[in-house]
Amino acid sequence: MMALQRILCLGLLYHGVIARLSGSGPTAPAAEQQHILSNSAPRKGLHGRFLHITDIHPDEFYKVHSSTDEDDGCHKGEGPAGPYGAETTDCDSPYSLVNATFDWIEANLKDKIDFVVWTGDTARHDRDDDLPRTQDQVLGTNTWIADKFAEMLRNEETGHGMSIPVVPTFGNNDILPHNILLPGPNKWLQTYTHIWRHFIPEAQRHSFEFGGWFHVEVIPNRLAVFSLNTLYFFDRNAGVDGCENPSEPGFKQLEWLRVQLEFMRERGMKVILMGHVPPARTDSKKLWDETCWQKYTLWLHQYRDVVISGMYGHMNIDHFLIHDTHDVDIAFLNGLSPEFGVREYLDDELTVQAGTDYLMELRDDWSKLTPPTVPGKSNEVNQDGKKGRTRKPKRKDPWGERYVLSLVSPSIVPTYFPTLRVVEYNISGLENTPLWRDMPGNGAKNSSHPASAPSAPQKHLDLRSLAPIDDLSDSFENVETDKKKKKKGGKRPKKDKKPHDPNLVVPPPPAKTSPPGPAYSQQPLSLTGYTQYFANLTHINNLNLTDLNSVEPTTTNSLFSLLQSSKSWLMKWRKGKNGGKKPLTPKPDPREFAFAVEYSTFNDKIYKLGDLTVNSFVELAYRIGQKAKGKSLVEMAGDEEVGDVEEEHDCDESDFESDSDSDDEEMEAEAKKGDKKKGDKKKKGKKGDKKKKKKKGKKNKIWLHFLSHAFVGTLDKSELKRYS
Ligand SMILES: *[C@@H]1O[C@H](CO)[C@@H](O)[C@H](O)[C@H]1NC(C)=O
Ligand SMILES: *[C@@H]1O[C@H](CO)[C@@H](O)[C@H](O)[C@H]1NC(C)=O
Ligand SMILES: *[C@@H]1O[C@H](CO)[C@@H](O)[C@H](O)[C@H]1NC(C)=O
Ligand SMILES: *[C@@H]1O[C@H](CO)[C@@H](O)[C@H](O)[C@H]1NC(C)=O
Ligand SMILES: *[C@@H]1O[C@H](CO)[C@@H](O)[C@H](O)[C@H]1NC(C)=O
Repeated sequence: MMALQRILCLGLLYHGVIARLSGSGPTAPAAEQQHILSNSAPRKGLHGRFLHITDIHPDEFYKVHSSTDEDDGCHKGEGPAGPYGAETTDCDSPYSLVNATFDWIEANLKDKIDFVVWTGDTARHDRDDDLPRTQDQVLGTNTWIADKFAEMLRNEETGHGMSIPVVPTFGNNDILPHNILLPGPNKWLQTYTHIWRHFIPEAQRHSFEFGGWFHVEVIPNRLAVFSLNTLYFFDRNAGVDGCENPSEPGFKQLEWLRVQLEFMRERGMKVILMGHVPPARTDSKKLWDETCWQKYTLWLHQYRDVVISGMYGHMNIDHFLIHDTHDVDIAFLNGLSPEFGVREYLDDELTVQAGTDYLMELRDDWSKLTPPTVPGKSNEVNQDGKKGRTRKPKRKDPWGERYVLSLVSPSIVPTYFPTLRVVEYNISGLENTPLWRDMPGNGAKNSSHPASAPSAPQKHLDLRSLAPIDDLSDSFENVETDKKKKKKGGKRPKKDKKPHDPNLVVPPPPAKTSPPGPAYSQQPLSLTGYTQYFANLTHINNLNLTDLNSVEPTTTNSLFSLLQSSKSWLMKWRKGKNGGKKPLTPKPDPREFAFAVEYSTFNDKIYKLGDLTVNSFVELAYRIGQKAKGKSLVEMAGDEEVGDVEEEHDCDESDFESDSDSDDEEMEAEAKKGDKKKGDKKKKGKKGDKKKKKKKGKKNKIWLHFLSHAFVGTLDKSELKRYS
């Protein structure tokens, strides 16, 4: 029953999104949406959509029907490795999955997107002792995929260059040995300059060879994507040391970022940041060196009028990060205080248990967030047209500018299921803007520089000249609240205390008169939502499995046992849900490969993300943070605003696994969030009595729904319930 319902739901969702993409469906809501979609052929303007693809991990040694055990790793033995990959395992991607993914993108997305964000790890892992990785293999798969993009997106009109830009970055597995990238220039950076010659603007190749960072004006003079080399921020990179010392490449990268963001501000442009390793950080764990995290978060706060979001990969888990700028400690950055709460390295390959532990820590943090006073309302521009800040705020920070957002997309490699993210953004008013491919060198004309920068002058400023440190007291301190002072025992330096590190230049904040940026209030170039596509390999591989040996019952290999046995953060090999089984039939008999919609923020009834602004995510995170058992800190504080949030998200625990359950009360409460959901069918009366139920038992629904997305739908209901 459940499965049938699920398939029906998926069918509906799938239809919805295909309709979105083809411009005719009920889910295409706003006027500009129709505008985008009506332009589909022949392609002229922007579509308001881009693809985020990450962690492809092609493995030339993958063998169909080989064993998923640790010693075999889908390279040998007999077992359940499917024709399109071994879902829920630590095996890498077969070429068939890579080819099928590109075929699907070409058939379904290519003509409907404006650019591609490709966040790295395009080589297999170094996990098979019998087949240690070679430089040729690592560069070979990277070259293959880079060329595949260039070929798929070639500009057919002109026969030169590409029709849309692709912005790549390194993963920690794209170098040898993995994780270790020494300061540039070095042979790796030099080699990638060549492999990515289609993608790196000519004018920036020199600086790329130096540090592995660059940016592309994906919409000339309007929107730039900044490719960050996160390996220089990554705690695991033993070849570098943080972002404090001017000789470190991490320091230099942040200086480059600061200066370039200042130029972008001057030009009135907006920026999407992307990288491989996300700035994940909880009370006990971190992925980035703390000095890098601190500066990055500070930079993003100061450039909150410019930066739209950060897009990352690496973790394979679908989630998001909310940086609290109250965690930025200027005294620490100035070497005046030690790091607050020392954090351990977060393992880069997390088991489901470790991943869940990590997510639980995030959840704890989220329970303490300050949600927008009126959920869904705060993203609108004030009626008096006075640019947001002037109206008396309902909360101290009506736009949520205290927070910074990073989005982490899950992977192609089937650690769970292979998945792709299509992000949509607001293009109102950009109907006639020149496109990337119209710029000289990008395909409009013959050029020896296929991807040269459209117009950006490469200015060079004295890095120190930008902001006197005193600006900090003005801008940064004014979002200070009592909470921080309480928590940190008043350790922060007083306004007049001069920092001691002469190398720390705090960027200037937005002008007092400038309205909230696209990350905070819906406007042109703001992100409006995304659709997560997945390939259900269990279905597609169509394996008829039997236990390999009867001594080992199937449950031993389920995620269940894995959850119970692995209590540590240590990496454990995942042999997957089918581990220890083998196919009955010698010949693979896969079904047709296709991605389908896993979920879409445009119609996810539980996420209810009206858009992807920071306030929307803070509100969602806060709801995820509310626990069924025990009271959260916020509840204990008896904040009356919290009551509103609870009331509105009254849910039934029993139906958490289905996206299609309508919740009329919720829908009505959310009607103000926009008319995107108006077309959805309603099931009247079904939940008439639900409100009387105790709310406490129901809050976990949102958390479990989040977990289900985090692991790309691979955990079934009973497995999920373990975490409630
Ligand atoms: C993948 O596609 C390439 C061409 O791009 C082809 O040479 C190769 O045989 C294909 N591999 C598989 C497994 O389909
Ligand atoms: C443009 O490219 C075509 C095909 O390579 C070539 O025949 C032509 O001479 C080129 N034109 C210019 C102006 O370079
Ligand atoms: C895009 O931004 C404009 C304001 O510039 C706003 O009126 C419109 O509703 C936004 N579109 C979406 C889909 O949010
Ligand atoms: C994937 O396919 C399997 C087999 O058809 C099915 O049991 C399972 O529910 C599907 N998973 C999702 C998330 O759709
Ligand atoms: C699986 O294999 C068994 C034994 O060959 C066969 O009886 C059964 O019909 C097969 N099931 C499917 C779904 O192919």
